[in-house]
Amino acid sequence: MGTGIILTMLTIVLLSGTVKAHNITKILESHPDLSVFNHYLSLTHLASEINRRQTITVLAVNNPVMRGLIAKHLSIYTIKNILSLHVLADYFGVAKLHQITHRTALVSTLYQATGKADGTSGFVNITNFRGGKVAFGAEDNGGVLDSFYTRSVKEKPYYISVIQISKLLRSPEAEAPTPAPSAYNLTELMTKKGCKVFADLLSATPAVEKTFIDNVEGGLTVFCPIDQAMTKFMPKYKKLTAAKKTSLLLYHGVPVYNSIQMLKSGNGETNTLATEGTAKNFNFTVQNAGEVVTLETKISKSTITGTVIDEQPLAIYTLDTVLKPRELFKVADLDLDSPAPAPAKSKPKSKKSKHAASSDADGDDDDEAESPDEDSSDEDDLVADDTAGGRRLSDNPWATRCVVFLASLVIAGIIGL
Ligand SMILES: *[C@@H]1O[C@H](CO)[C@@H](O)[C@H](O)[C@H]1NC(C)=O
Ligand SMILES: *[C@@H]1O[C@H](CO)[C@@H](O)[C@H](O)[C@H]1NC(C)=O
Ligand SMILES: *[C@@H]1O[C@H](CO)[C@@H](O)[C@H](O)[C@H]1NC(C)=O
Ligand SMILES: *[C@@H]1O[C@H](CO)[C@@H](O)[C@H](O)[C@H]1NC(C)=O
Repeated sequence: MGTGIILTMLTIVLLSGTVKAHNITKILESHPDLSVFNHYLSLTHLASEINRRQTITVLAVNNPVMRGLIAKHLSIYTIKNILSLHVLADYFGVAKLHQITHRTALVSTLYQATGKADGTSGFVNITNFRGGKVAFGAEDNGGVLDSFYTRSVKEKPYYISVIQISKLLRSPEAEAPTPAPSAYNLTELMTKKGCKVFADLLSATPAVEKTFIDNVEGGLTVFCPIDQAMTKFMPKYKKLTAAKKTSLLLYHGVPVYNSIQMLKSGNGETNTLATEGTAKNFNFTVQNAGEVVTLETKISKSTITGTVIDEQPLAIYTLDTVLKPRELFKVADLDLDSPAPAPAKSKPKSKKSKHAASSDADGDDDDEAESPDEDSSDEDDLVADDTAGGRRLSDNPWATRCVVFLASLVIAGIIGL
């Protein structure tokens, strides 16, 4: 009886914890006068970055103001910089806006978080004028505060606040032209961040290098194995036919842009540059567990170890091992060139044992049917949030659940008596 109550309450507590995070696109959808702003948040992928974060304030502007911005014919990358200056890394509901200590504050933004901003640019100055007017201005705009609070669009205390302001914040730095995607030198970027061997192979295979470069504009994610891994793999690579070498290199590129946030929040199968123009699959699976992202083929498992660049439309990440497509390698090959990777450390949810994966190398698709379960991805989000640390108790879903659970036990105890 008592146990039954406790279990029921535990269930309620756990269910209450699965409440989905905010969705800025959905929040703004019910405000047609902000639809252009909403559209550009999605187009620049800022929407997913906003959804991933907690304790955030979005400064929205109405459609005529956005049309004024679009009329400047800036590149989408520059528009992204400008809009990311309008996402504050703190929660400002209306009440808090009017109670700022000493009437003025500097707040960091997503633009500041990109690391592109120098010095104090990337910060927003919020100042409370006498008479209750709240003004906003980019810190690198000569102290000009010419955008004013208009209304509160949505408040979900300490998670997200959406506020409409009268004008876009002007920032010379955010508005500066962003290099055109074609200006990126992929091999140079990789070489600088520990992927020289892989970069040299690309340079030595001009057709492949061209495919990578041609894909940048439409969005490209490259996973480059670090030099140590690539060096170890070279004897194997040299034995491949020219066509297979091409496929292997192309296999390390995905023809869409994936920010690290996108990789951390979405599991699933993806096609690669090697998939195009062949009947073969050449897909791999992205698996994330908290902050760790792994890429799994039927016969290998690689972990992302760092970011070379993550700037829409181009992302390049380093990998600890070479991705080995089952289309090119057999089980026997595997064991020769990659001493079995260390046993999965923090990934209890991975259902694929090394052996199951290996025995599968000859080509059946069973593993792929095994989709990651929903619950574990929720858990991942929570783990990530906890590691952010320093939250108030009420902001922490786990803490809230623990408190509610303890309360349930007490109540259950009382009922039991
Ligand atoms: C957010 O809401 C929009 C519109 O309602 C929907 O299309 C989108 O899939 C949602 N995104 C997520 C991550 O749930
Ligand atoms: C914000 O800008 C105003 C006006 O330029 C200035 O007086 C104030 O000191 C600034 N606030 C902060 C925290 O820098
Ligand atoms: C990239 O930079 C290297 C030197 O760092 C140069 O040799 C190469 O030609 C450049 N590639 C492109 C496509 O500009
Ligand atoms: C490969 O991944 C893509 C998603 O990017 C998917 O549409 C496609 O069906 C996958 N191919 C196979 C053979 O599973």
